[in-house]
Amino acid sequence: MNRFEEKVVIVTGAGSGLGQAAALQLAKEGAKLVLVDINQAGLDDTKSKVQAVAPKVETLLVTANVATESEVENFVNQTVERFGKIDAFFNNAGVEGKQNLTEDYGTDEFQKVVSINLNGVFYGMKYVLKVMKEQGYGTIVNTASVGGIRGVGNQSGYAASKHGVVGLTRNSAVEYGEYGISVKAIAPGAIMTPMVEGSLRQMGGDNWEEAGKQFVQGNPMKRFGKPEEIGYLVAFLLSNQADFINGAVIPIDGGQSYKY
Ligand SMILES: NC(=O)c1ccc[n+]([C@@H]2O[C@H](COP(=O)([O-])OP(=O)(O)OC[C@H]3O[C@@H](n4cnc5c(N)ncnc54)[C@H](O)[C@@H]3O)[C@@H](O)[C@H]2O)c1
Repeated sequence: MNRFEEKVVIVTGAGSGLGQAAALQLAKEGAKLVLVDINQAGLDDTKSKVQAVAPKVETLLVTANVATESEVENFVNQTVERFGKIDAFFNNAGVEGKQNLTEDYGTDEFQKVVSINLNGVFYGMKYVLKVMKEQGYGTIVNTASVGGIRGVGNQSGYAASKHGVVGLTRNSAVEYGEYGISVKAIAPGAIMTPMVEGSLRQMGGDNWEEAGKQFVQGNPMKRFGKPEEIGYLVAFLLSNQADFINGAVIPIDGGQSYKY
């Protein structure tokens, strides 16, 4: 399938995990990619992997902190200057933050997590939607989480920010549908990426792999998700095949969030 031939797609958090997996799937389908991350080394890694699977794909790498509004505005402007349009946007960069009970959850930590996961997603939508409205088309997929639709525990900043991402998604979906734009979100469960490894290390220290085995026992499928499984879903949702899916928040978690 070449659903992204001649399409321009921005991916944030493209230097690792879910963003990298989505970038690889989009590259295989011919997208011109704008890869954004705070970590330049991660971007270089993704670029070399993209070149390995799709040597002809054009990429623009932008090192940016999504929590800084001017840096978000800048990567959106750079995209339009280089490619003239934005067909799709995977608004995905995020952090988990340090796990703690609410009473012990640091105020600075709360603000840091919210500034990246919520402010960052808002800035991305603000600048990309302006371009898409002028074009009269476009699709945005925001990365929420199971922690954005359920209580997980020990994650005040993450829960607040990801529930906020769900709210931003539904709000903008209602506003922009009439301009030919769809906005949706994914709610991944535990997908094995560096972020989840970090989370397991917070629970199990050096025994994090054992902690992981115990963790997945609560999942109906008794396993972690794979980043490429997110790549397939995101590519579908960003493609024109999913244009009428608007405002939806789609769990991808092996069924864990449906369990009583
Ligand atoms: N892996 C999971 O199980 C899981 C589950 C639910 C939701 N998520 C969400 O998926 C998204 C990606 O997570 P992941 O698992 O791929 O994590 P990851 O740590 O592997 O990748 C996240 C990427 O985002 C980048 N990033 C972090 N802060 C940034 C900032 N301020 N500006 C720009 N880039 C920044 C990092 O450098 C990194 O490359 C996050 O929003 C996360 O909350 C992940």
